[in-house]
Amino acid sequence: MGSNARCEASRTSTIQEASELADINWDNLGFGLVPTDYMYIAKSPRDGVFTEGGLQRFGPIQMCPSAGILNYGQGLFEGLKAYRKEDGSILLFRPEENAWRMRTGAERMCMPSPTVEHFVDAVKETVLANKRWVPPPGKGSLYIRPLLMGSGAVLGLAPAPEYTFLIFVSPVGNYFKEGLAPINLIVENEFHRAIPGGTGGVKTIGNYAAVLKAQSIAKAKGYSDVLYLDSVHKKYLEEVSSCNVFVVKDKVISTPAIKGTILPGITRKSIIEVAQSQGFQVEERLVAIDELLEADEVFCTGTAVVVSPVGSITYLGKRVEYGDGVGIVSQQLYSALTSLQMGLSEDKLCWTVVV
Ligand code: COI
Repeated sequence: MGSNARCEASRTSTIQEASELADINWDNLGFGLVPTDYMYIAKSPRDGVFTEGGLQRFGPIQMCPSAGILNYGQGLFEGLKAYRKEDGSILLFRPEENAWRMRTGAERMCMPSPTVEHFVDAVKETVLANKRWVPPPGKGSLYIRPLLMGSGAVLGLAPAPEYTFLIFVSPVGNYFKEGLAPINLIVENEFHRAIPGGTGGVKTIGNYAAVLKAQSIAKAKGYSDVLYLDSVHKKYLEEVSSCNVFVVKDKVISTPAIKGTILPGITRKSIIEVAQSQGFQVEERLVAIDELLEADEVFCTGTAVVVSPVGSITYLGKRVEYGDGVGIVSQQLYSALTSLQMGLSEDKLCWTVVV
């Protein structure tokens, strides 16, 4: 099927009449949970196929205290966003990519995973059921959080006998309290996020618990977040707690290569393609800390953070600043990506999917 035909196929689902918006202050969204109406749940035995699943009212779930996820961290999550257009339709951005990443992660974590079709259909069903929580155009997005959990009981260390695929959603605004203003990062020199051969390259829950210590210390000192170095040489950039990192020097954009310790971000991948289509040279390779300190611009990418400019980096007590305000390249790529995600520019690559 050609790309245009695929594009059309992804647009065939029915657009429902715009429902009323939830009664909240849409001008004040940050990145905190706003409880919504429904969540989606499907179950699977260890080696089995997920049942079709369905919607339930959003709320607490019951789980055995001996569940694999609670005891041994057998769990993954995903993150994607839905945007409301002026015409009332709702767009997802590359949801199949999240589905594939969940499948890759599930394989690493010895878990069964929903098919790509099941994942995307379940995301659409959950978004439609919570349509009144998708922010008005320009006010934010609906953050979609799919979870894959070892929910069956274990005591000895082993894969759980049952799995739960759950999706919940929350309207969100900017991730960092700085909003769209540049963030201030500190390079971590003691703690590491991931090790070669570990699970840094998949979106398992433990990767995020592991960064809380360094992140808390950094936040207490006034930094926005932490940038991690590789654990072997303590020299090459890895990623920030919640996002990937890019360095701009003389019109060349460089980002750490995916080699098992870095999350293969969907925003990362999209920004690389957008930047190349705009004529930038993009290099995926080892990026040394010295290059970061000598860069013209630095920015982070992620579903939650979108494209977040970096205003300063502190490394071993030395602070480097990257000029006043948002860098030109960061601004250009942010605008290009968000225009696509919000349906404001032509989607030549068929990245958006109508719910
Ligand atoms: C996302 O960007 O969607 C993530 O999963 C990062 C998370 C820490 C908010």
